[in-house]
Amino acid sequence: MASLYANIVFVFLFIFLCFTRHGEAAPTYTSHFCDNATSFKPNSTYQANMKALLSSLSSHTNSSKNGFYNTTAGRDPNLVYGTFLCRGDVSADLCRKCIAMASNDIARRCVTEKVGVIWYDECTVRYSDQNIFSIIREVPGMDISSSKSIQGDKDGFNQLLSSLMKSLMNRVAYDDQSGKKFATGEANFTGFQTLYSLVQCTPDLANALCFRCLQSAIASIPMCCDGRQGGTVLLPSCNIRFDMSPFFRRNSSAALLLPPPSSPNSTKQGGRKKSLPIIVAIVGPVVTSSVLLALGLLVLRKKARKKYNAVPEENVVEDVEGLESLQFDLSTIEAAVNNFSSDNKIGEGGFGEVYKGKLCNGREIAVKRLSKSSNQGTKEFKNELALLSKLQHRNLVRLLGFCLDGEEKLLVYEFVPNKSLDYFLFDPERRGNLDWSGRYKIIQGICRGLLYLHEDSQLRIIHRDLKTSNILLDEDMNAKISDFGMARIFGVDQTETNTRRIVGTYGYMAPEYAMQGHFSMKSDVFSFGVLILEIISGKTNSSFYDSEGAEDLISYCWNHWRTGAPLEMMDPNLRTNYSRNEVARCIHVGLLCVQEDPSKRPMMTTVILMLDSYSVSLPQPQKPASFLCTRNELSPQEAMGLGELSNNEVSITELEPR
Ligand SMILES: *[C@@H]1O[C@H](CO)[C@@H](O)[C@H](O)[C@H]1NC(C)=O
Ligand SMILES: *[C@@H]1O[C@H](CO)[C@@H](O)[C@H](O)[C@H]1NC(C)=O
Ligand SMILES: *[C@@H]1O[C@H](CO)[C@@H](O)[C@H](O)[C@H]1NC(C)=O
Ligand SMILES: *[C@@H]1O[C@H](CO)[C@@H](O)[C@H](O)[C@H]1NC(C)=O
Ligand SMILES: *[C@@H]1O[C@H](CO)[C@@H](O)[C@H](O)[C@H]1NC(C)=O
Ligand SMILES: *[C@@H]1O[C@H](CO)[C@@H](O)[C@H](O)[C@H]1NC(C)=O
Ligand SMILES: *[C@@H]1O[C@H](CO)[C@@H](O)[C@H](O)[C@H]1NC(C)=O
Repeated sequence: MASLYANIVFVFLFIFLCFTRHGEAAPTYTSHFCDNATSFKPNSTYQANMKALLSSLSSHTNSSKNGFYNTTAGRDPNLVYGTFLCRGDVSADLCRKCIAMASNDIARRCVTEKVGVIWYDECTVRYSDQNIFSIIREVPGMDISSSKSIQGDKDGFNQLLSSLMKSLMNRVAYDDQSGKKFATGEANFTGFQTLYSLVQCTPDLANALCFRCLQSAIASIPMCCDGRQGGTVLLPSCNIRFDMSPFFRRNSSAALLLPPPSSPNSTKQGGRKKSLPIIVAIVGPVVTSSVLLALGLLVLRKKARKKYNAVPEENVVEDVEGLESLQFDLSTIEAAVNNFSSDNKIGEGGFGEVYKGKLCNGREIAVKRLSKSSNQGTKEFKNELALLSKLQHRNLVRLLGFCLDGEEKLLVYEFVPNKSLDYFLFDPERRGNLDWSGRYKIIQGICRGLLYLHEDSQLRIIHRDLKTSNILLDEDMNAKISDFGMARIFGVDQTETNTRRIVGTYGYMAPEYAMQGHFSMKSDVFSFGVLILEIISGKTNSSFYDSEGAEDLISYCWNHWRTGAPLEMMDPNLRTNYSRNEVARCIHVGLLCVQEDPSKRPMMTTVILMLDSYSVSLPQPQKPASFLCTRNELSPQEAMGLGELSNNEVSITELEPR
């Protein structure tokens, strides 16, 4: 008995020592990013301001609030913005040490870049030539995953992790008394394994922005850290981390303790309180998710009811002023793409050709060259330039610059090596390379890119031409949405508009858009639904053939769904290794997205929740839109308009809205 007692004391002492050591440990470098798209000259005023700012940061730890501090140095045009953030549980002393080290470190690492961020275990330091105060930034992001894999029930682990993360996210975004926007939590995975997590936003963010940032960080867990015991997602505005061993200073009065995962049975009934001992503050994960979903649906309803009709024809962006910094010399580009030699050509789009090139600093680029003769592309060129220069997200193709020189109109993008989704998906051999986890990652990537366009960027953007050939794949097969020539900005309060000129691709267009020129976020959601169904079935909607007589891909999927065998529609290549749960859920969400009635389609915010939360129960889809049926219902006048639809690019002009 005595020896047992001694053992316990020893264990406690050991734990205590570990934590004390942890608390006093030297700050640990994690990752950094220097944005080399922007640079300053050595010995410039900007550099002097940046150095002054960074070296002053650590002296402000006493005046920081909630571990966060923002400041500026210099004057426009050499104004530098800077912030630091310490992890919510570190002591003032460690915070100061960390800031001092990190700011020194980032100044050393980002030698010429105007924008930088560095993450340490205990703190984050950022600087920029643009305002970064109270603004959400989700790029650049860094993922780190533990090398240890989960022992035991992987699905159970994912579910527990998802519940814990979501409870923490809600707590930080909407129930944070301290103003720190920081929370930690624990949950028992098995009798002897505990899952620890941490989430934190910069405290200057509004609640809703904090929620969004965490949502997108959490959504990247399956991509970075699937099957791993630990993982970290670092974004400039927020970060999350989980592990099977404690990595933060535990504070039992502040930590969120999650009850053990409920059996699937009780999950469905939702949130029956279990009175287990020692559970402190709990919102059941199930309740949380259902509340989230309900909130999502509520917002969705509210938005759907708001209709605005005072919109002029099309919100095409014409203004390309203020973009001088993105301008490339024609000679630079010509050198990079070998004078547009045919060897460098990698594709041909609607409005011109695409070339691969290499800048003299070694960076690979893709250059879209608009055909000189065509006047048609000018508007699309300016539109894409003006829009894309304002957007930055890891699931959108990145615009590096442009060149307007005489008749040459060129757009310069980051080079994305793995071509586009259709290149893999609809090729009998290459599609074998896309297994389920790869496809799921692509679906999630598109989903997040689209959510960013609809909700998270400062503009509200409708892409209008989502399709497999516009989804590019990077070296890790991450999806990047491209081709913004057709995209339109929406007023923030505006949810729907009409166009007299219908552009888009047959097979992806929502019926109300194809018929009435009505476009909205919900018409993009429709195209997204078609993409999901294509990715799962490996069949294309625009030239669909089924020996059993379904007229189009959507009816084909619906028929399988209705007869209770949704997985039958899966691409046979996928059938060796996949998660039933994930596939079934994706099909379900896909069908909800292609509902005929736009108000029955979920918003992208809801789609994200639906995809990554297994405890949310989804509404049942009704019979979705079918192209043939809707075509039969056309008035003769509309039928004539539609008669010009080809299977590929369509452009119907002057179709009168009803
Ligand atoms: C910019 O950064 C990227 C990624 O870190 C790197 O591949 C590229 O070579 C860098 N370009 C320059 C000009 O330093
Ligand atoms: C910048 O200043 C340092 C010292 O003041 C000097 O050694 C260096 O040559 C300068 N560099 C440039 C590019 O002017
Ligand atoms: C910050 O506060 C600590 C203790 O309160 C004090 O020792 C230290 O001198 C202060 N630092 C500055 C820069 O004011
Ligand atoms: C910090 O940011 C807020 C806006 O979020 C701004 O009003 C304030 O002036 C900033 N503080 C400093 C020292 O620049
Ligand atoms: C633990 O959390 C409580 C409540 O948030 C807080 O008042 C207390 O200072 C924390 N203790 C430590 C040691 O951080
Ligand atoms: C986890 O299990 C331990 C030991 O069984 C128990 O003391 C603790 O309260 C449990 N934690 C939670 C959050 O259920
Ligand atoms: C599931 O719930 C039903 C009633 O709601 C109950 O009869 C059944 O025993 C439960 N099953 C489990 C495994 O808890």
